[in-house]
Amino acid sequence: MMKKTHLVLALGATLLGLSAQAQTVLKIGYSNALTSHYGMGAVAFCEEVDKGTQGRYKCQQYPNNALGGEREMIEAVQLGTQDLANVSTGALGNFVPEVKIVDIPFLFRDYDHARKVMDGPIGQDLLKKMTAKGIVGLAWTENGFRHITNSKRAINSAEDARGLKLRTMENKVHMEGFKTFGVLPTPMAWPEVFTALQQGTVDGQENPIPVILSNKLSQVQKYLSLTNHVYSPAVLVLSPSVWNKLSDADKGVFQEAARKAAVVQRKKVNDDESVAVAELRKDGMQVVEKVNGESFRKAVAPAYAQFAKEFGADKIAAIQAVK
Ligand code: PAF
Repeated sequence: MMKKTHLVLALGATLLGLSAQAQTVLKIGYSNALTSHYGMGAVAFCEEVDKGTQGRYKCQQYPNNALGGEREMIEAVQLGTQDLANVSTGALGNFVPEVKIVDIPFLFRDYDHARKVMDGPIGQDLLKKMTAKGIVGLAWTENGFRHITNSKRAINSAEDARGLKLRTMENKVHMEGFKTFGVLPTPMAWPEVFTALQQGTVDGQENPIPVILSNKLSQVQKYLSLTNHVYSPAVLVLSPSVWNKLSDADKGVFQEAARKAAVVQRKKVNDDESVAVAELRKDGMQVVEKVNGESFRKAVAPAYAQFAKEFGADKIAAIQAVK
């Protein structure tokens, strides 16, 4: 029979074994502050995972590009040197080409439409496409509808954007769209953008309101036009090296946690949008709220032939048809 001291030791070792497992700390990176929409989504995700796995999985937060730009983070997730990232589709399409369809300008009517598509069969199918590329897409989160800021002039219609040198994401679909507005698209990784705006290497950039607020772009940009020219989905991605070790129950916890994070992140996008114009005007920005959207739509219309060739007219129509 086992002596009492041995029993205590064995129990201790078992507990140690269990607590070693409980110490699994996942690195999660994103390109904006901890208090931004990305940060709030990431924190909500991690709290849910912690709760749902009884503390066996915890996170270490790496906001503000601490693990690199979005392209680098996606690569690291593929390689397993980073566990999680909350990233926009801007860079993701370079890894999973099918995803690029959602980056088509003026594809989505509004937030309701975009969220319905991303959470519905079309979006879920796109999440699954990531698996073959060594990326586990847990759930669609959100960056928001994108708007143009610049240091040169107020943009009321597409004509006013002509000739501006604008930083875009490293995303061919966005760049094609911008060319139709007569803009000179200048792809650049996000971590370099603030300095480029400050130094005048580019005249402007385009991003959703939460990014403009969180990164204090009002310090380096005078004009904001609410162009809503493209919806920018984001996604919580996990490394297969973590996913493949999870039990089925834990996989469910991670997926549900990501869905809950999306709700939090999207709410932050809405909250930021409701205060942004007043805040940015207070910070000295000139804001054009009523942009001539029709002029932008008309300019981009010819590019739809190319998009249809690349993605399939039926696939574009299927997204547009979602009510
Ligand atoms: O413009 C970008 O690169 C992206 O919108 C950003 C700011 C990295 C957030 O996903």
